[in-house]
Amino acid sequence: APDRPLEGKKALVTAGPTFEPIDPIRFIGNYSSGRQGYAIAESLRDAGAEVTLISGPVSLSPPDNINTVKVRTANEMLDACLAHLPVDMAVMTAAVSDWRVRNIAKHKIKKTADILLPILEMEINPDILAKISQLKNNRPKLVIGFAAETENHLKNAVDKRIRKGCDWIVVNDVRSSTNIMGGSENEVTILSSFGKQHFERASKEKIGYLLTQEIITFFKSENRG
Ligand code: C5P
Repeated sequence: APDRPLEGKKALVTAGPTFEPIDPIRFIGNYSSGRQGYAIAESLRDAGAEVTLISGPVSLSPPDNINTVKVRTANEMLDACLAHLPVDMAVMTAAVSDWRVRNIAKHKIKKTADILLPILEMEINPDILAKISQLKNNRPKLVIGFAAETENHLKNAVDKRIRKGCDWIVVNDVRSSTNIMGGSENEVTILSSFGKQHFERASKEKIGYLLTQEIITFFKSENRG
């Protein structure tokens, strides 16, 4: 149907932060609200796609008619993504923690003497976007990553697209003055192997809609061969 151009297509979307535990009551997290990822998931659903949304801890409600899977850590997010393949497209908006704590304490770390500070050993988390982009089997036709950059954002994003192996990268400038991370608006540039396309500042819902239009165009030309 013309109003459901993604009917029959499956989409995987990641959204929100990850929380990496320090002890049973503390974690390392970030300011991601999940809003852009949720908005993209909803636009894809409205275009007819069957959407699975793998969400880190956010305060948003699970959207209607979307299979929302809540996870906490990067490793849980990776496992949930792999468990929901194959899909036609993957849009990775989650702000995944680059590191996790190696020496997670079994019990709440006590404040003892002022000079005895806890030492957190870190280890690297899996790069979910790179893993999905580089799958030998079940690689989605279209893999889209996000790049939140505070400087040199286009140059860094071009490098990132190549390094990770995704098809498109959506760049946003998250210098704190732009109030994008955690805010309600976004201003993005989509980079593909064909070039770049800039979208002026708009609500995250509008950006989700515009990205969905680009995705629809991609799958239309796919079908034409
Ligand atoms: O390298 P950087 O974190 O800037 O890359 C951002 C992109 O990679 C986003 O699409 C994000 O969802 C994804 N990513 C990921 N797993 C990580 C780190 C980033 O999927 N461990």
